[in-house]
Amino acid sequence: MDYLLIKGPAVLDGTVAVSGSKNAALPMLVASILSKKFVQITNLPRLSDIDFTLKLLVELGGNVRMIRENNSISANIEFKDTAHCVAPYDLVRKMRSSILVMGPLLARYGHVTVSMPGGCAIGARPVDLHEMIMRKLGADIDVSDGNFVVKCKKLKGSEIVFPFVSVGATQAAMMTAVLAKGTTVLKNVSTEPETVETGHMLNKMGAKIHGLGTENLIIDGADSDTLPGTGDPIPVIPDRIEAGTYAIAAAATGGKVRITNAIPGHLEILIYNLRESGVKVDVGDNHFTVDAGSVKSIKPVDIITAPYPGFPTDLQAQWMSYMCIADGISTIDEQIFKNRYIHVGELMRLGARVKLSGTVATVLGNRKLKGAPVMATDLRASASLVIAGLVADGQTEVHRVYHIDRGYERIDEKLLSLGAEIERLREGD
Ligand code: UD1
Repeated sequence: MDYLLIKGPAVLDGTVAVSGSKNAALPMLVASILSKKFVQITNLPRLSDIDFTLKLLVELGGNVRMIRENNSISANIEFKDTAHCVAPYDLVRKMRSSILVMGPLLARYGHVTVSMPGGCAIGARPVDLHEMIMRKLGADIDVSDGNFVVKCKKLKGSEIVFPFVSVGATQAAMMTAVLAKGTTVLKNVSTEPETVETGHMLNKMGAKIHGLGTENLIIDGADSDTLPGTGDPIPVIPDRIEAGTYAIAAAATGGKVRITNAIPGHLEILIYNLRESGVKVDVGDNHFTVDAGSVKSIKPVDIITAPYPGFPTDLQAQWMSYMCIADGISTIDEQIFKNRYIHVGELMRLGARVKLSGTVATVLGNRKLKGAPVMATDLRASASLVIAGLVADGQTEVHRVYHIDRGYERIDEKLLSLGAEIERLREGD
């Protein structure tokens, strides 16, 4: 198992290119199940979650060919008229987003067995909305041995009103309803760029989804077994969470970093908050520069996580590391996953002072962080520990780095190129 050794404090300086978005790539790969023709997806990030999803598609009977390019991967995926419509626990428990295969397999092949995912480090993470979608579109669902066993000859369009915004449930509903008979209306849906991009991909494949990027969607079902497909390559959008993580790292280390291959429009709230904290941010078309070189004292800025375009829950932990060194007290209100504070204990080992009360974390700033060995617990928590390690004086070891490799492509190499002293080592070395 690898760990990261960071020698701080660092001042990040230079240019970093953002990889393709993990959270867009996963539903896009799964959407390929619906196509009659092979689908080519490009700009996939080189991440263990992507390898895992491709393996899952192969397990389900997909024909998958990967093409490795310099800094990314392309995948050609083809699903024929028969598939193995079973996603067992062993696969689903490793990656919760595997639940997304339920809708497309059901819609195309009429039946599917998918293991129910359990909880994870960031909370209970129920899947009741996924179940509701299948029922609303006319499927029969049995729960047996921890699996959803779902059947339906032909799905029927329906109206589904979501009680709150769910990224996963919106994507599941879109991917299921595109092959239903008649019209489906989805209300209170996710407008996250990753969801919109998945919708655009489905439309390129022949689906008729109207209203993408707004709170309500109208889907005219294809009334056939497959979408006609597209021969054109479909590129994955840049990862806004990766871009945001480097932006926060630049600000926290008092550095100057140009972030390229990015869509700054996807990060408006972060850029606004960085500016509020006193940092200069210059925005271009597909790049932006965070310049904290002349910042004497970081202003504390309160955040509340919310669905897009609100502050992303996936940047909450990184923002907390930044606020630990702000000049005063700030609060974080985590409204998406109410217990997503597993990083707090580890940050405290580096000298952070954070008080938790319900969904609110009060971050007592003005901390002088000091290096220590810490344990990564989930993907974004690991990123917050890396940022804190860059800021801290002395050596920080971030253990269980496989969490970070799920979602950050070559993070050690990218930080090294920005001037950080960071090394990937093997436990026991
Ligand atoms: C969520 C985040 C997403 C982030 C991802 C990984 C939001 C709206 N979603 O997406 O940005 O990238 O985590 O950190 O910010 N829920 C249910 N029943 C369900 C599905 C969800 O109760 O069937 C709840 C969840 O527990 C959570 C909320 O709905 O409190 C949002 O969940 P959802 O958006 O579906 O989660 P992800 O798709 O994992």
